[in-house]
Amino acid sequence: MVSILKLVVVKLGGSAITDKNKRYTPRYDVIENIAYDVKKLSEKFQLILIHGGGSFGHPVAKEYEIHKGFFSKKQILGYSKVRYYMTMLNQIVLEKMIEAGVPAVTLHTSNIAIAKNGEIFSMDADKILKYLNLGMVPILYGDAILDLNKGFCIISGDQIASYLALKLRPWKVVLGTDVDGIYSKDPKKHPQAKLIQVFSISEIEKIRTEKLEIDVTGGILAKILEMEKVVETGIPVIIGNITIKNGLLKLVKEETPKYTKIIV
Ligand code: ADP
Ligand code: IPE
Repeated sequence: MVSILKLVVVKLGGSAITDKNKRYTPRYDVIENIAYDVKKLSEKFQLILIHGGGSFGHPVAKEYEIHKGFFSKKQILGYSKVRYYMTMLNQIVLEKMIEAGVPAVTLHTSNIAIAKNGEIFSMDADKILKYLNLGMVPILYGDAILDLNKGFCIISGDQIASYLALKLRPWKVVLGTDVDGIYSKDPKKHPQAKLIQVFSISEIEKIRTEKLEIDVTGGILAKILEMEKVVETGIPVIIGNITIKNGLLKLVKEETPKYTKIIV
């Protein structure tokens, strides 16, 4: 079966779909709006959705130091908990997608991928392609996964997005978050921060970034560095706000003036 639709890899940031400051708190209204946009987009594009952990993944991963790899028996209950809460968030996202009429299907990251030193070592992308060819919308998510050297680790949704982008060469990668794009400084703390519409990674030292204390995957700085591998190979990467109505729809189509295009 040959598909003529353009492939878009979309990351739904944990900052957008959850309240990152309150444990296990989904933002149902945001997820519903996103699902509506995904439904519309799925008529024109092939989509791979990847969601982040937000307050379902980070606090518990941090508590048990899952991102540092296995070093103590005390951590293993934490590994179970990360997997449990991430599955819970995934069910919420999946439920909203199905309610909106999106033929979404989850591929649990920890079951189809293995890491080596905190990086994805292999992932069964063939299964993802098979679902795409059936006209379905595969969903993956940042997760605790097995690591060949460290026992286990945390893989971010951004790492999954860049891995799949390099492997499947989509038309573009779209990173949805809770701010309009990359700013000179954190716009939540500095209202005078300026949105950078075309952001060159080579000028990364010119901006100031911050991350939440609970964030185990490095926040916006790690996101930008992860995307360097993608833009280097000529695949466009854009980042913008998906917490507003039709935010994702407009972002994918670049029909909003407020977003950032990341370049080398
Ligand atoms: P997500 O969870 O949506 O994938 P992150 O939480 O990792 O994204 O990164 C987005 C957050 O980064 C925003 O909520 C914003 O407050 C914060 N941030 C810090 N510094 C910056 C900056 N210079 N530009 C944009 N956002 C920034
Ligand atoms: C983190 O994924 C997953 C876990 C902490 C289990 P991300 O790093 O992609 O999550 P967000 O988008 O920052 O919340």
